[in-house]
Amino acid sequence: MKLFLDTADPKEIAALVATGLVDGVTTNPSLAAKTGLSFFEALRTICDLVPGSVSAEVTALSANEMIAEGKKLAKVASNITIKVPLTWDGLAACKALSGDGHKVNVTLCFSPNQALLAAKAGATFVSPFIGRLDDAGHDGMALIREIRQIYVNYGFATEILAASMRHATHVREAALAGAHVATLPPPVFRGLVQHPLTDKGLAAFLEDWKKTGQKIL
Ligand code: G3P
Repeated sequence: MKLFLDTADPKEIAALVATGLVDGVTTNPSLAAKTGLSFFEALRTICDLVPGSVSAEVTALSANEMIAEGKKLAKVASNITIKVPLTWDGLAACKALSGDGHKVNVTLCFSPNQALLAAKAGATFVSPFIGRLDDAGHDGMALIREIRQIYVNYGFATEILAASMRHATHVREAALAGAHVATLPPPVFRGLVQHPLTDKGLAAFLEDWKKTGQKIL
């Protein structure tokens, strides 16, 4: 499973890229607004930091304008993935942009039928929003499982990018359900390594080693 960071903050990204385990980044207009930075400048910095896919979202509503915005965003760097919303116009833009060889992430997916349309439109990624479905009293993870089954049934190459991930349990369940990618807010990414028994076990090992008076280096 690929792990992406769900943030537009270059400082956060730089800190976590150092782990060697960040495969890509997703941004959206809300995340971009939160940084207070120029979006294009932030995107350039992020694309330099991360060799993998960096999703940048269009803000137009018509297909033609989405295509124009998408092409402008794609000029920022070769690893830009153009993000479009799951509307008829977004799907038309996805079809045109993917037909031109661009990578496209179709976002704001809340149903299996929407994911089917995204795959038929040639999306590189589809982004089901797990946390927001859970918040609304639905079963976000069931959506991942159903999309996975549909994509397997028809051999679609579109990757399932589990988004709106709120905690480590979402990551575990998305991995078990076969999501290809999970995009994580930095605190959720950091939390993945944590386990109290790891900390306790390490402290005990080091305490016992100290008693030997030896050194490895
Ligand atoms: O990038 C889109 C998605 O991950 C947003 O998550 O937490 O705003 O529902 P959230």
